[in-house]
Amino acid sequence: MSGVLHLARPEVLALAPYSPARWDPSLVRLHANENPWRRAADPTRAGLNRYPEPQSSALTAGLASLYGVNPAQVTVGRGSDEGIDLLVRAFCSAGSNDVLVCPPTFAMYRFAAAVQGAGIVEVPLRVGASFALDVDAVIGACTPATRLVFLCSPNNPTGNAIHPNDIERIAVALADRALVIIDEAYVEFAEGGSMTPLLDRHANLAILRTLSKAYGMAGARCGAVLASPEVTGLLRRLIPPYAVTVQTIEAVLDALAPERLAEARRQVERIKAERARLFAQLTRVPLVSKVWPSETNFLLISSRDAGRLLDAGIRGGLLVRDVRSQAGLGNCLRVTVGTPEENDRLVASLEAA
Ligand SMILES: Cc1ncc(COP(=O)(O)O)c(C=O)c1O
Repeated sequence: MSGVLHLARPEVLALAPYSPARWDPSLVRLHANENPWRRAADPTRAGLNRYPEPQSSALTAGLASLYGVNPAQVTVGRGSDEGIDLLVRAFCSAGSNDVLVCPPTFAMYRFAAAVQGAGIVEVPLRVGASFALDVDAVIGACTPATRLVFLCSPNNPTGNAIHPNDIERIAVALADRALVIIDEAYVEFAEGGSMTPLLDRHANLAILRTLSKAYGMAGARCGAVLASPEVTGLLRRLIPPYAVTVQTIEAVLDALAPERLAEARRQVERIKAERARLFAQLTRVPLVSKVWPSETNFLLISSRDAGRLLDAGIRGGLLVRDVRSQAGLGNCLRVTVGTPEENDRLVASLEAA
């Protein structure tokens, strides 16, 4: 299995790692210029007066176990948004390298590339074929300047998943040529499982996971990049040492307790059941022309008058996402599956339009 480190920015490879204050809980910390006293209302176990452990070993081990990988394959950051940003900064030199994206898809890939000054190569999903990925076009569009290929599965905002064979075909075709990143933000809601078993077979694969969706922790800001130990070492060199806060570390460790994981799994099942119910109800709304099948916690709807539906939502006190500016989605809205009461209210509001 050959690697992808030769594709990383030379100046990042040459970077001497920043050396944060040594982490040794058995010793008194007089080396980090912290305040020695906790605030009276400090709710944490570790104390907010102390810097957190960089890439907390307990958190890394907990997420590695959750995702079925080795701790040396995990970089923990502020949501998968930070993972996307790190990957682009590690691999793309401004003005010389490209990122490949398959619109309509999550806008952060394009945003991170633009901030870095990287070019963007677009291989649109096949709108006429239920937003299927054009595997041959993705492989064919990669040039020597391409460094990263972002594939979102299941995809935001179209809701469909990519078949593992297609991912594998792309990873094989682009071995040594590009890092293929699978964004699995919604995989817990999907029928097929995660692509993590492919990581050990393809050094040019990376996977983004998040606690923001199925685990109900969007406010904690915690996500992970799963990749080869070599890529992980590179990302850990770039990420700020105290990216993940004491509160987040403790909240996520609590959420990884078996009973809390069981609770999250039950919630996912409830959301999937509500998704099916909402799907059926939305298909009967007069201004809705199609509800797209979804393996996520949202539904994409095509509408005869999306503007009127948006206004009707607001009148009902509900925000839904306007995705009409995205390629191929000229008449579409995206709605998140809410509680049964919220979903009923949504349907009633849209029916009134
Ligand atoms: C496909 C996809 N990836 C990543 C993210 C970002 O998630 P996080 O909260 O982990 O930064 C989102 C958020 O909506 C998303 O839809």
